[in-house]
Order: sequence, then C-alpha cells, then structure tokens
Amino acid sequence: MSQPTKLVLIGPPGVGKGTQAMLLETRLHAVPLSSGAIFRSEIEQGTELGLLAKDYIEKGQLVPDDVTIAMMSRRLRQDDVSQNGFILDGFPRTVKQAESLDTILLELGFPIDAVVQLIVEDEVVVERLAGRLTCPKCGATFHLKNCPPKVEGICDRCGTELMMRADDHPDAIRRRLVEFREKTAPVVGYYASRGILRPVDADRSPEEVYSEIVRGIRV
Ligand code: AP5
Ligand code: MG
Repeated sequence: MSQPTKLVLIGPPGVGKGTQAMLLETRLHAVPLSSGAIFRSEIEQGTELGLLAKDYIEKGQLVPDDVTIAMMSRRLRQDDVSQNGFILDGFPRTVKQAESLDTILLELGFPIDAVVQLIVEDEVVVERLAGRLTCPKCGATFHLKNCPPKVEGICDRCGTELMMRADDHPDAIRRRLVEFREKTAPVVGYYASRGILRPVDADRSPEEVYSEIVRGIRV
C-alpha cells in the first residue's frame, strides 16, 4: 500500500486553501486539518481556547504561536492522522510554527512530502472573501458567484444553512492580508530552501488549480 500523503497548503486569506483541501481529500484520503476551522469550532462550543482565540480572529490577527502550536500538536498526534496522512490548511503561519511542526513530525516519524504555495493578487482575494458562504457544521465553502451551492443558502454536503464568516468584513480582511505578508510570507522561504515548495497560480478555476497541484505532487 502507498504511504499516506503529508501536504501543507500555504497562501493568503481567500486564496482557496479550504476549497483545495476538500478536493484533495477526495483523492488522497488524507485528513484535512484547518487551524482556522478548529478555532471556529472551539469558539462555537464556547471553550476556553475558543474564548481566547475569538478576539484575535474577528480582528484578523494571528492567534499567539504558543496557543496555536499546542492545539495543532494535539491534533497531529491523533490516530487518523498517522493512518491517513494530512492536508494542513493555515498551519504553519509563522516561522516559529514551521519549526515546531518539524519537531512534531520528527517525533512522529513522518516528514512533509510537499508544501503547495497558492498565489493570487490581493484584489482577487477581496472579491472571493466578500462573496464567500461557509457551512457552520461541516466547514464546506461556497461562493455567491464563483461556486454557488445547488440550493440557494444551503450546504450541498450536509443541508445546513450557510453563513458569512465573522472575519470576512473589510477591516479584518485588510488586517489578515497584512498578517500574511509580515508573518506568513517568510514561511514560504523556509520551505523553498528545503526544496519542497510547489508554487501554483491560484487565479484560475478550482478544478484547474486542483489539477496543477496534483501534477506537482505526483499522486
Ligand atoms: P483561516 O480559517 O485559515 O482563514 P484564512 O487563512 O484567512 O483563509 P480563508 O479560510 O479565509 O481562505 P481559504 O484560503 O481557505 O479560501 P477558501 O477556500 O475559503 O484562519 C482564520 C483565522 O484563524 C486567522 O485570521 C487567524 O486569526 C486564526 N488562525 C488560523 N490559523 C492560524 C495559525 N496557524 N496561527 C495563528 N492564527 C491562526 O476560498 C475563499 C472563497 O473563494 C470561497 O468563497 C471559495 O468558494 C472561492 N474560491 C476558492 N477557490 C476559487 C477559485 N479557484 N476561483 C474562484 N473562486 C474560488
Ligand atoms: Mg479556509
């Protein structure tokens, strides 16, 4: 049997990380792990972690490294990940997180196969986020124009009513773009120097982006 795939998706807010993670899950059977989705679920449940993360997320700021690393370290150690591999979406987002991820994966004995860098201009991001609809139950993502659900306002996957995200307002979107440039862009260099970075032009249809990712990682 082939080894489980271990993939990282990196790119600015709204570039399509979640959309591609869903498409790749079907092919790779690896576990999609979105740090943002885990935070949103903690907020929804009103946990201590959720209360801590809520303010940062709604303002478009990164949640502090120690909190994020501890949360992802717990998740990566669960059995489904060692059995099926992972598609990391939104983690790591700082060089410190990338170094911690290396330490965790060294302990677990499964290194990253490839880091896919999704690239679009800021204007595209703003248009995508302004029209995004998200399922609060299963996390599926749609777009009013680019990727509408089959039934207006209802999730295709689980039938739940779709919502706009609390951090998809103009101030938070601007802040998220600044955070990406300042803190996450250096992570791209970190992986480029290791020879595992696969840059992909994400200003195309989700299917075209998906095909290029699959070609680049040869799975
Ligand atoms: P997170 O949930 O990761 O948000 P993000 O990085 O801002 O990215 P998004 O989820 O907004 O966009 P996406 O790239 O997944 O795009 P999507 O597929 O939805 O993080 C949220 C917050 O949590 C952070 O701001 C931070 O506060 C905190 N956080 C999370 N991780 C953290 C970490 N590691 N450290 C610290 N804090 C952390 O697509 C967007 C829209 O475009 C959709 O409507 C979709 O249908 C449409 N679309 C997608 N692809 C295409 C395409 N090819 N063509 C046309 N439309 C498309
Ligand atoms: Mg996402």
